[in-house]
Amino acid sequence: MMATRMSASSSSGKKTSSKARSSSSSSNVRRLRATTSAPTTPASSAAPPASARGGVPEGTPVVEPRDLPSRPRRNRKSRHLRRAFSETTVRPEHFILPVFVHDGEEDIPINAMPGVSRLGWQNGLVREVEAAMKEGVHQVVIFPKTPDELKTSTAEEAFNPDGLAQRSISLLKEKFGNDIVVYTDVALDPYNSDGHDGIVSDAGVILNDETIHYLQKQAVSQARAGADCVSPSDMMDGRVAAIREALDAEGFTDVSIMSYTAKYASAFYGPFREALASAPKAGEAHRIIPPNKKTYQQDPANYREALREAMLDEEEGADIMMVKPGMPYLDIIRLLRDNTTLPVAAYHVSGEYSMLKAAAAAGYLNEQDAVLESLLSMRRAGSDLILTYYATQAARWIQEGGLDASQGGD
Ligand code: PBG
Repeated sequence: MMATRMSASSSSGKKTSSKARSSSSSSNVRRLRATTSAPTTPASSAAPPASARGGVPEGTPVVEPRDLPSRPRRNRKSRHLRRAFSETTVRPEHFILPVFVHDGEEDIPINAMPGVSRLGWQNGLVREVEAAMKEGVHQVVIFPKTPDELKTSTAEEAFNPDGLAQRSISLLKEKFGNDIVVYTDVALDPYNSDGHDGIVSDAGVILNDETIHYLQKQAVSQARAGADCVSPSDMMDGRVAAIREALDAEGFTDVSIMSYTAKYASAFYGPFREALASAPKAGEAHRIIPPNKKTYQQDPANYREALREAMLDEEEGADIMMVKPGMPYLDIIRLLRDNTTLPVAAYHVSGEYSMLKAAAAAGYLNEQDAVLESLLSMRRAGSDLILTYYATQAARWIQEGGLDASQGGD
């Protein structure tokens, strides 16, 4: 059977060439029919009815229909058929909108992220959340821009009950109640004068267990402000169990944990660090500050290590696992999807947003199609949730018909 198919395809070069309407080619087809015991209908009556194909351009070669055992294109032949067989959907309810807030009135645009601003926490934040909800996006994650004068090397501002993050959480929950799901970021970097997710020792070591002590306080203060879900993005070992324990001890058994399970030391976070002015700072003579986060975030070369982190997070009581960044790590999303029963989230990060915006602005890509395809790819890889700066815009595009509508045709 295999050999027969091979011989049929080896004759295809001849048959598709307009110069090769030879009798030897049609006898090939007959030979194939005989050996595969296909119906012996004359080849001409098997040609598609003219109405289905319409006319053909002059110069189109006349060929015998190939005797293909399967034609996958049959299942793609019209829009409604394609919709019926579509294996993956991306909907507004899958999105979490990340928002940057600051302690002022105005919205301050972020240079590397056109269309995204640090929002005034009382005005812009509420406006953007309302706009998202109008499009069907009911989940946000809040990132506060802390003024430099409040940053310290031990980042106590992270658990100030009256801090910017805490006030923003309370405001959204007071205004919108259960119409909005509020996620928070648990990590010290927005509050740390050294620009790291944990406390940095003089020798430049990011202290694990000491940092966790403050992450517990941070998570509890966010829960107290009304957060639905706290999201540790710090990559310290053992923080999920420690945060669970601290939340439970304070009575917050209903507050969930979305763990940044597989967070890679990625160049794609650059624009985010600009937004929060949170990049690692330069060291001084008597203090080393590591210029990158490679001693706690994962090596982009590693796959198995993500599974190790996932197993720990599951044991420690995470409710949702996250992979970050998104598109460059689709294999990791699939790995977690196949190895946990927990929901999986993908973070379509700042640098991914910037790339799409820049290519669209230059006219190199159709923004809507490229964005929706990117988001769909993360869903196909196995993510339930997607954190994306495109959430509101993508939700609107989806309501308007998504990829189907924008590309037109049938
Ligand atoms: C910090 C944090 C980062 C992001 C989310 N939380 C940056 C970092 O780890 O340096 C990145 C998000 C993005 O790039 O969109 N804890």
